[in-house]
Amino acid sequence: MRQLFVAGNWKMHGSKASIMNLMTGLNKKSAEIGATKVAICPPTIYIDYAQKCLATDKIALGAQNIAIEPVQGAFTGETSAEMLKDFGCQYVVIGHSERRAIYGETDSEIAQKVVTALKAGITPILCVGETLEEREAGNLEKVISTQLNAIIQAVGIDAFERIVIAYEPVWAIGTGKTASSAQAQEVHAFIRGQLAVLNAAVAEKVIIQYGGSVKPGNAKELFAQPDIDGGLIGGASLNADDFIAICTAGE
Ligand code: 13P
Repeated sequence: MRQLFVAGNWKMHGSKASIMNLMTGLNKKSAEIGATKVAICPPTIYIDYAQKCLATDKIALGAQNIAIEPVQGAFTGETSAEMLKDFGCQYVVIGHSERRAIYGETDSEIAQKVVTALKAGITPILCVGETLEEREAGNLEKVISTQLNAIIQAVGIDAFERIVIAYEPVWAIGTGKTASSAQAQEVHAFIRGQLAVLNAAVAEKVIIQYGGSVKPGNAKELFAQPDIDGGLIGGASLNADDFIAICTAGE
């Protein structure tokens, strides 16, 4: 039985005031969290502030991006794995579709970031997912395999013991259009199956989150699917009541 894992990706949202408010709510409601692992990924500049507001050990910290270069150096505007570690980050979202689409991140750059995170002992939350056009053209499996294979080639299958995968259909992100639990389950099973061809034991253990318009009202059904092991939550992670309701939906 895999442990559910729910992470909040705050994206580029928040201010000191709103984060204080959100963290106060999360601290209060964190007693409701059971066996599900929970993490929050604030914007980089607020990681330290969120950490200082955090008054529970039930919520871990993560980041939303990482530099390819692991340590320090002349890389203006970047934040290294070593720096994220220094501020207590255990997780980092890598390869989110917004970074792929808006900032042109390639599979090869994403693979290098996964290598860097793993070397630093930070767990990558590796995002994969197809656009609506790709799905409608019948290319869903090809797209997901290409995204996965780039990482497998870079780090090997065994490294997936230390990687979390997030399946996020691009058409379901921030649109209010969730993949149905059956649609999501089908892709999650496909992802696990792809890994199982290479190492069945690793595939059985790997956590595969679903992301894309997860809300308190649909989380229970999604998390009840055999291959859905939690969620990567955008909008709903900015509201303490909603986020905690999602974090406890699988229990
Ligand atoms: P929403 O939950 O806002 O659709 O965002 C999903 C997402 O992109 C999480 O990384």
